[in-house]
Amino acid sequence: MWSRAAVLGRETTLMVSPSALRRVQHHLEAHLVPHAVGEHDVQSLVDKEAQEQVQARARLMSTKSLQSNATFDTYMRYDEIQAYLKQLEADYPNLVQLQSIGKSYEGRDMTVIRVSLNGGQSPRAVLVDAGIHAREWIAPATAVYLINQLVEHTAAHRNLLDGMDWYILPLVNPDGYEYSQTKDRFWRKNRGAPRDSWLAWFWNMLCERGADVNRNFGFHWMEAGASTYPCAETFAGSKAFSEVESQNLRDFVLAQNADGRFKMYLTLHSYGPMILYPYGYDYRVTPAPDTQELKSIAEEANAAMVAAGSVPFTVENSAELYPAAGGSDDWAKGVGGIAKSYTIELHGGGRNGFDLPASQIWDSVTQTFEGLKVFGVRAKSL
Ligand code: ARG
Ligand code: ZN
Repeated sequence: MWSRAAVLGRETTLMVSPSALRRVQHHLEAHLVPHAVGEHDVQSLVDKEAQEQVQARARLMSTKSLQSNATFDTYMRYDEIQAYLKQLEADYPNLVQLQSIGKSYEGRDMTVIRVSLNGGQSPRAVLVDAGIHAREWIAPATAVYLINQLVEHTAAHRNLLDGMDWYILPLVNPDGYEYSQTKDRFWRKNRGAPRDSWLAWFWNMLCERGADVNRNFGFHWMEAGASTYPCAETFAGSKAFSEVESQNLRDFVLAQNADGRFKMYLTLHSYGPMILYPYGYDYRVTPAPDTQELKSIAEEANAAMVAAGSVPFTVENSAELYPAAGGSDDWAKGVGGIAKSYTIELHGGGRNGFDLPASQIWDSVTQTFEGLKVFGVRAKSL
């Protein structure tokens, strides 16, 4: 999201093309809406970020091979994350197992890493995913850091692994992620909303393909905060689970959680910082019966992150932020049988929020990890 969405009485941020700026300003003035230009040239910031990425990568190449290591001073690409996961599986065969839960539209593996002390037989499990939205780069970075800590620093985090398995999917939307790395920094959707109708040629003329995977889950699908217009940022897909990425995640949860072993689902987004708890499909809905517990867990995680130097995360009901149906968080709780389900909106950066400078990855992921530890500890007593 571009900061908070346009809810009456709240501030919001939007990006306009140079040619439309005058008109938008006049419109706001005519309607007495207070406004200011925050950033005159977004492209220059994007260029700067790209340049920093190149420099950081060059520095790395000169010291050690990037291929099989996690790095947190640049945003890792899909292939680098895959290589790191494979390296961990080779190095820690007793702790780690990889599973492709299916392929993305463009054919990239959606790889879940299982971190378990006893071959995936623990009575409890936590599911963490990231990158359902392409441009929110700090989210996969945070997932990779979590993996790095659990696998390569197991001794320090034994309590998190005792009696509990971790399933982590660092890139729900690998196609969109790569597209945001190479073509359009602020791409949000996936890259393949199927366009099989006779209208396809028409949409292809108008905009790039893609659906918002976080509007595509089959729970109160399309009831609020989503669009049937294929060019919209929040295009919900042609029907519930029309997208292969949401299908794969659904099928994985249904298969793995048949016995209710999954106690918690954390889906990482940016930017907030915020911790959102369900339900988010409608703000008039009766609060979930476990709302107090959902809140208290999130508050405790927030306190740990603040103690680690983070700015505070706002803990709130996701519909209070803005109602949006078809999210993976709501589906996980409402259908997937994972009662404690959270969307974590990670730190924003710069003027644009999504393009947190690479130099700030480290602070963000280490601070957030303190919160993730709290979620993990609390999941053990659920
Ligand atoms: N920024 C997220 C999105 O727009 C928030 C999702 C919150 N969850 C929900 N079910 N509304 O997708
Ligand atoms: Zn998001």
